[in-house]
This record gives sequence, C-alpha cells and structure tokens, in this order.
Amino acid sequence: MSTASTALCRGKKIKRRLDLSGNKQARQQQRTVFSKQLLRWYEHSEHRLMPWQKNKTAYRVWVSEIMLQQTQVSKVIDYFNAFVNRFPSLKKLASAKIDEVLEQWAGLGYYHRAHKMHHSAKIIHHQHHGRFPRDLPGLLALPGIGRSTAGAILALAFGKRYAVLDGNVQRVVARYCDIAGWPGHAQVAQQLWQEAESLLPQHSMADYTQAIMELGATICTPSNAQCSMCPVRPNCCAYHKGTIEQRPAAAPYKKEKQVCRWLMLFICYRDRVLLERRPQQGIWAGLLCPPQSHSRHDARQQLRRWGIHQAPVQGKTLLHELSHRRLFITPWWLQLSEQLKACLDSSFNWYKINPAAMAVPAAVKKLLLQLKSQQEECRPQR
Ligand code: ADE
Repeated sequence: MSTASTALCRGKKIKRRLDLSGNKQARQQQRTVFSKQLLRWYEHSEHRLMPWQKNKTAYRVWVSEIMLQQTQVSKVIDYFNAFVNRFPSLKKLASAKIDEVLEQWAGLGYYHRAHKMHHSAKIIHHQHHGRFPRDLPGLLALPGIGRSTAGAILALAFGKRYAVLDGNVQRVVARYCDIAGWPGHAQVAQQLWQEAESLLPQHSMADYTQAIMELGATICTPSNAQCSMCPVRPNCCAYHKGTIEQRPAAAPYKKEKQVCRWLMLFICYRDRVLLERRPQQGIWAGLLCPPQSHSRHDARQQLRRWGIHQAPVQGKTLLHELSHRRLFITPWWLQLSEQLKACLDSSFNWYKINPAAMAVPAAVKKLLLQLKSQQEECRPQR
C-alpha cells in the first residue's frame, strides 16, 4: 500500500485537513498554513546557528551564499570564517589582489565563484559607493548572482519578500505542492518559482528563508525523508499521494564524468616547489599548479627541454573526483641540486611549500602534503 493511501486510511482528520481535489480555496489554505507551520517549527526547534547568521550584514550574507552554491554547509563553515577574517569588509575584498582571494578559496572548488565575487566586490565598491544593491535587478546585474542567490540576499539580509530556490528548497516545494518533472526543465522551474512565491509569508522573511533551507537540509532530505518530524506534513501533497520519493524527478540523463589522466611534475629546490599559474578560464582558473603532462613521454621531453636529466621518483596515483571529472594524477617528484636550479630560467616561479596557505586546488594540496613527508626520500644524490 502506498504512503498516500496509508495516510488517507489512517483517519478522517488528515482527509479533512488536505483537500487534494484541486479546489482553489483549499489550495490557497494549504499555501497559507505552510509558512505559519514552518515559522513555528523554526522558532521552537533547536537549529544550527551558522556563522553568517551572527553579526549579520549584507556582505557576510553574500559571501556565505556564494560559498554555499553547490557546496554543503559543513564544508563552508571553516572557509567562511577564514575568508571574513582575512577580508572583514567589502572594501577590503575589493582592494585585495585576486591571488589573495584564491588563496582563501583554495580547496573549496568552483573557482569561477571566487573570480566573480572579487569582480562584484569591485563593482559594488566603485559603482555603488560600497553599498549592496537592495533590489532584484541591481543584484542580478552583479557577476555570480542568480535569481536564487539574489532572493536569499534580499530576504536574509534585508528582510525583503523574495523567494529562494536552491536544491534544498526545490525539493521542499516540489514535494509540498507535488510538482512532477525535473527542475532542470524551464517549465518545471517556472512552476517551482511560482509555488515558492505563493508560499511566502507576509513577514519574518529572514527566519522563513533560513527555515525552509533548514527543512530541506535536515528533514525533507533527498532520500529517507523524515516525514514523521516534518512540521508541514499535514498539508504536504506528495506525502499524502505517496510520491515523496519521486519528487523532485531526477535528471532524465546522467552525464558521464570525463576521465583525465595527468602527470604532475613536482620540481623542488630546498623547501620550494615550482608552480605555474593556470589560465583564467577553465579548470582551476587562476590557481597555482605544478607543470603537468598527459603522458610520460611528454613529461620526459619537457624535463629535457629544461635541461633536467635527473630521473624523477614516481609517486602513487591519486584519484580525485570533481563534479564533472574523475582525475587520476600521478606525481613525479624531483629534488633539484643547486647546479640544476641555477640552470633553470629565472622566469620560473618558486613557492615555499606551505600547503595550508597556497592558492592551489585541493588535489594539489593533498599531493603537496605527501611531498612534505616524502622530501627526505628525493634528496639529490651527491
Ligand atoms: N544554502 C544556501 N544558503 C544557505 C543558508 N543561508 N543556510 C544554509 N544552507 C544554505
């Protein structure tokens, strides 16, 4: 027996609460109670107090919302604290160099976010006299801010009546209103936005927004939803129809991850390593990386071109998963002698090995940590 029929058979009480017939008045009633029940739950529940909720400013809300795009709260907290510690104000961020910003972002992934955020900070500082736009078009004009992020900033920082629709909220709305279809389809997305807006309360927008995101993150989860704990279950359409598991629908196709096999050349001299700046576009945009090759042959040729004939020590291949790629990175370690270092072009950039504070991607950070412990092994033969 489905969840819906079980729920409906349990008693008349539930049947009376939720009219699934499509009656307009009942539908309106279902929308109105949602925010009331959600706010009451949020007020009485023990919820996580996240760092961006303390000393709340538009700047802090904006930083957190950009970091939280495609990234979980647990991962963001430490990055957020370090970031606002280093750049405590919009002005500080706007006047920082992009390398400093990337240093703080290193390991968080999706580096275009850091570039766009830095760009936005400059625009707000120079064109808006350092004040955040307080309207939707003004926010949407900034790089890296889409409709949901703009809604979150307006609601959380300014208490304005705008909806958010990140992944967690999409799920809550799709279930509560039983919306079929994949949210990646424009038509479904439009329906979800419409419903998300119809559920908004007339007041308490900051609490409401935090509450609906929290409900999606902790109770209305993708699998094993805790419906028995849910404050809006009495009027949840998917709960009563037994479609919780099917809402929202999964993508109709799953793109295979691209497999990349790279060799990375960790060329060291004393406590320094040779790194190159990645291009401003594409994977790891603007971050520092060791020189890399697609084959052993290419790597050897590259070394020869630099006048390095010393045999590298091959390390264990690292598997590192990104959202769209599966990387297999094989490190080659080389510790240069004084003589060889002197032969290398002076345009090479050497960086002191300090994995925790370098603008390097997470995969390189892991390998640099290994390098620190392996440095003893690849000392030059004298
Ligand atoms: N996801 C996006 N914004 C969030 C927020 N402010 N709190 C928790 N999760 C979020």
